[in-house]
Amino acid sequence: MKIAIIGGGYVGLVSAACFAEFGVEVMVAETDPVRLDRLRAGVMPIYEPGLEELVAANRAAGRLGFTGALDAAIAGAQAVFIAVGTPSRRGGGHADLTYVFAAAEQVLTSLDHPAVLVTKSTVPVGTGRKLAQLAAALRPDLAVEVASNPEFLREGSAIGDFMRPDRVVVGAETEHARSVLRALYRPLNLIETPILMTGLETAELIKYAANAFLAMKVTFINEMADLCEAVGADVHDVARGMGFDGRIGRKFLHPGPGFGGSCFPKDTLALARIAQDARAPSRLTETVVAVNEARKAGLGRRIIDAAGTELRGRRVAVLGLAFKQGTDDMRDSPAIPAIEALAEAGAHIVAYDPAAMEAAKPLLPASVRYAASAPEAIKGAELLVVMTEWNEFRALAPARLAAAMRGRIIVDLRNIFDPAAMRSAGFVYHGVGRGH
Ligand code: UGA
Repeated sequence: MKIAIIGGGYVGLVSAACFAEFGVEVMVAETDPVRLDRLRAGVMPIYEPGLEELVAANRAAGRLGFTGALDAAIAGAQAVFIAVGTPSRRGGGHADLTYVFAAAEQVLTSLDHPAVLVTKSTVPVGTGRKLAQLAAALRPDLAVEVASNPEFLREGSAIGDFMRPDRVVVGAETEHARSVLRALYRPLNLIETPILMTGLETAELIKYAANAFLAMKVTFINEMADLCEAVGADVHDVARGMGFDGRIGRKFLHPGPGFGGSCFPKDTLALARIAQDARAPSRLTETVVAVNEARKAGLGRRIIDAAGTELRGRRVAVLGLAFKQGTDDMRDSPAIPAIEALAEAGAHIVAYDPAAMEAAKPLLPASVRYAASAPEAIKGAELLVVMTEWNEFRALAPARLAAAMRGRIIVDLRNIFDPAAMRSAGFVYHGVGRGH
């Protein structure tokens, strides 16, 4: 079996490497010449554990290739996956489909054989239908079928998520399209992964509904954490006590600085817009967007209040810059507004992130300094702010922190430290939702 993937970005590249690993012949079409050269040189455009090795192994096996020529990529392909970006459109938050339609048009005009055109990018409900109309209009001579195959992988564990998914969702309306997708995912039959076959609109909505629901869970526990602080309760026990109820589930109930990344913020906003446009507004989704924005905007104040003193001229160590651990993705990272507020307050910020420092530099105030390691960042700091949950931050023992830091205040926005141990080491410790 041979397939083409349009777009060598996050979703495209991971999907390409994983399908190739399943034994499929995959060609990736990438239009950005710099990215293409780097991919051909074996350099990954993103930080994702295991990706470089998987790409290298499958290229060596002759199952995976990269090209700038779209017609070469789609030659003989039974399915063509569109995995280009769908960023938020300026002024409103609708998903910008410029790249999706441009890619689809190019594929349709170049195709010389029938193929299934599959959207893997997250696209608004109704996009598949529009693509099917475009296909019928542009290529009445070819039987081009359209399918939706949304992706549920998480940054940082993308390969594992692709190889062992909870489910695969396929929106397709012909038996041929369904059978092509079923064949592609055949190796997952062995681990009994459910493959849910639906219509186009349903598959498109499942993706948004799943992300919005997870974002709502995180936002809910963040609000409960604030309430815990106000009433003297412990949010971890609240989450555990809720999560043992199988109807609620234990995952995605970890409080933090608010959700970020390339998916939740963009997809919640897009779902709110889709629902408004369909005159079936999702007030819950709108509220999740607003509550999360306010949480991130309030981080600076939260940290300054925790410091209990003027930050002007004081050295503040910030550990973690990306939107979570395990990634270099800075998109909508809570660290950005937090650091902006601290810089505004005159703090001398020394930041460290194991993967995201290069990506962070152009986005953060010029006054921020960067350390080469976590211990270097905390050296001489009066205040420590933990933004993400990398294991190397967890490993910082209280005694080591006490020896390295000048001050004794910790704001741990991921609850990675043990409050009792920190307090007995002499720290004023502020977690999230665990009292003060
Ligand atoms: C998310 C979804 O989890 C994937 O299923 C989906 O495929 C992906 O979006 C996408 O649409 O492409 P991702 O953005 O990589 O994946 O990251 P998550 O691990 O889900 O975290 C999202 C945000 O929620 C992060 O800011 C994270 O720190 C936060 N979070 C998550 C919490 O604060 N608490 C939690 O308990 C879980």
